[in-house]
Formats: sequence, C-alpha cells, structure tokens
Amino acid sequence: MDCTPYDAIQRRMTLKIGIDKIGFYTPHLYVDMNKLAVARNVEPEKFTIGIGQDEMSVAPLTQDPVTLAANAALTILDDESREKIDLVLFGTETGIDHSKAAGIYVHRLLHLQPNARTVELKQACYSATAAIQLAKGHIALHPDKKVLVLASDIARYGLNTPGEVTQGAGAVALIISANPKVMELDSKSAYVTKDIMDFWRPTYSDVAFVDGKYSNDQYISFFHHVWKEYKEKTGLSLDDFAAVCFHLPYTKMGLKALRTVLEEGSEQLQRQLQEKFEKSAMYSRKVGNIYTASLYLSLLSLLENDEELQAEDRIGLFSYGSGAVGEFFSGKLQPDYRNHLEITSHQALFDSRNEITVSEYEAIFSISLPTDGTTVELNIADDPASICLSGITAHMRQYETK
Ligand code: CAA
Repeated sequence: MDCTPYDAIQRRMTLKIGIDKIGFYTPHLYVDMNKLAVARNVEPEKFTIGIGQDEMSVAPLTQDPVTLAANAALTILDDESREKIDLVLFGTETGIDHSKAAGIYVHRLLHLQPNARTVELKQACYSATAAIQLAKGHIALHPDKKVLVLASDIARYGLNTPGEVTQGAGAVALIISANPKVMELDSKSAYVTKDIMDFWRPTYSDVAFVDGKYSNDQYISFFHHVWKEYKEKTGLSLDDFAAVCFHLPYTKMGLKALRTVLEEGSEQLQRQLQEKFEKSAMYSRKVGNIYTASLYLSLLSLLENDEELQAEDRIGLFSYGSGAVGEFFSGKLQPDYRNHLEITSHQALFDSRNEITVSEYEAIFSISLPTDGTTVELNIADDPASICLSGITAHMRQYETK
C-alpha cells in the first residue's frame, strides 16, 4: 500500500506500539444454532443467516471470567513476558466482585512478576479497547515494559428471549508492547460517549436488559459518528484499508455496519472488504458474543483465517460498548505477523469442543454458584481447561491449575 501523508507523520514518531501477541480461549461446550432454532420454534435460517450464528459456546460452572482470561493468556506468555509485564488490565462486564479486580487472580495464576499494577475496567463491550489505549500510553512512557490486556465475558440474556441466540462465552488476551510482532497501532483514533439505555445489566441481575432494535440502530449511528471523525482526523479514507473488523454481538450486525460505508470504495474494494469480513466473522460464528473480547476475536479470526493480507496492510477496528461508547481506530500488520499467531493451538481448541443438546445447555444455564457462603466443590475432571474454578469456600472462589 502507498505511504499516505498520515503514515509519513507517524514514521517520524519512532516508537512503534501495538499488539505483540494474541491468545484466545472458549469453553469446550457448544450448542448448534440449528437445533436451538428448532427448540425455539424458529426457522433455522433466521439464526444462521438473519443473525449469522452457527454455534454458541456455553460456559460450564467450572469456567468463569477469571479462568477464561487465564486460559486465553496461558499460550502467549513466556519467561521474558512474565518478567516484563508490569500492568494487567482486565476488561469485563461479567465482574465476579464489586471490589477485587478479577485480574489479580489471573496475575497469580499466570505467575507474573509481583511489581505490577492490576485493575479491572468496565464499559460494556468497549472496556478492552479502553485498556488497549491506556496500555499504549504506558508503553510510550516505559518502552521496555509490556502490558497484558485481558478481555473476558459470558454473555447472558436468558432462555427463550430474543437475545438468547446472541449469547456466548470466551476471552482474548493481548500483549501490548513496543516493536510489536503482530500489529502496530496507529496513534490517532476517534471516539464518542453518549448516555443511552440500549443494553445494561443492573448489579442485581445475572442477565442483561436490552432494547434490541434500538441497540442495533445505536451501533450503526455510533459507527457513522466515529468513522466520519476518524476520516477527518487522519485524512484517511476507505481506500486505505485492507480490512475492517467490527465488534460482533452477532455477525450480521458487523456486516450491516460495513454495508453502510461500502459505496465509499471501488467495486473491487467492496468485494475485498466483504471477503475479509467473512474471514473476520468465522470464529464469532462458532463462539457467539463474548462482549468486550468480541472485536478482538474478530481481528484474530481475520488474521488466522486469511493468508493474503501482508505486512503494512492497514486494518480498521470499530469498538462499541452499549450505554454507550464507540471508537474507530486502526493498525498496520507487521512483517511475518502470521508466524507470531497461535493458529494451530486455536484450531485444536475448536476441534476439541463437544456439542451439547439444547436441554443440556438449558440445565447448565439454569444452575448458579451459591451466594450464601456455602462451601461447594466443583468437578473439574470433566473440564479439559488448564485452569478451572474448583469451588467456593467462605465466599472465596478457589482456582486450580491442572
Ligand atoms: N431466514 C433468513 N433471515 C431471517 C429469517 C429467515 N427465515 N427470519 C428472520 N430473518 C432475519 C430478519 O429479517 C432480520 O434480518 P435484518 O436485521 O437484516 O432485517 C434478522 O433475521 C433478525 O430478525 P429479527 O430482527 O426479527 O430478530 P429479533 O427481533 O428476534 O432479535 C436482536 C434480533 C434484536 C439482535 C436480538 O437478538 C437481541 O436483542 N440481541 C441482543 C442485543 C444485541 O446484540 N444488539 C446489538 C447491538 S448492541 C451491541 O453491539 C453491544 C452488545 O454486544 C450487546
């Protein structure tokens, strides 16, 4: 791709900061959306085409946001990163404690060096993007350090609700560093905050409240706002992008947003962006919505399933967190980026999942951990994950590494 005036300015800023590693984890259980549609008396095509989901990951009781995040990060850490990580940012809207940051459990489970800051961030599906932007600032000040960004969520709307088909469970872990091996993040981005009630979860509820159609409209409207702002700030246009990744609450949502800007590009570019979109949606089609990790699952899916993208190609990223905050930002692929992905282990993770029936999923959905201080021991032998929740004692979650 040609060097734009924006790139020329960026090159004068010598320090490259961005994504060095990407890890991913999803529980070993899933439901087939065709079968869920039959059980809900809905035409399967509504779920697989109209919504764009094929399978939905289901978290057993032995997986919670902490274990999902820890399992996602496990594959991307080595001795050097364990020593250099001095900031752990945990984005989630599935918090397990009003006070203690979930990242502190992960910090211990992953054996990170102790001289680190650890905090949890919340803003619906946007918090991981906020974490990445904060991480960029940290690395600019401390280029020899690394930041571990964890994005982990279990999406729950309830059985027999319109949102049910857009549930899911999983986590993405990113290492942000100087001289990143996967993607350099561009310095400029566009963002917006507006107080709206499209989706929220009061602290007393374990399922989300949502105004579905309104949330769809707001997603598109926030996308248009930040896309326009981004173009004005950077002087870039659709032509400068090899692909655009979206927050995918369900894959059709991202496609709908993409379609609204396609006419800004040539016919060839329109074809290319749609083709890349399909690759970016492949993992989400199998996992479902993982809230704040969803945009990064989309990026991972694109990078691991596409073999044509090249170093210096620019990827756009649209982040949306209901409530709401939106951001459009971008990054450029680095030389040999594919050699730094965990393609084989992620493929093995998908291949090893087990399908469960709709009634098994309903049973798992309906059980919850005790809230009265009762001691509970969970059977982690049936969960193939390396890190599991093994029980609760005196209101304290017990985690185990196998
Ligand atoms: N064959 C093919 N397509 C069919 C079909 C069939 N037999 N039957 C219906 N469809 C299509 C419909 O035409 C529709 O397509 P379009 O949207 O392109 O018109 C699509 O299937 C969905 O149909 P409905 O709109 O009737 O679906 P619904 O009312 O049952 O619910 C939903 C859809 C509102 C997304 C609901 O699943 C929901 O509330 N989900 C949770 C909220 C959400 O994900 N919002 C997204 C934006 S907010 C966000 O991004 C943050 C976040 O993560 C939550």
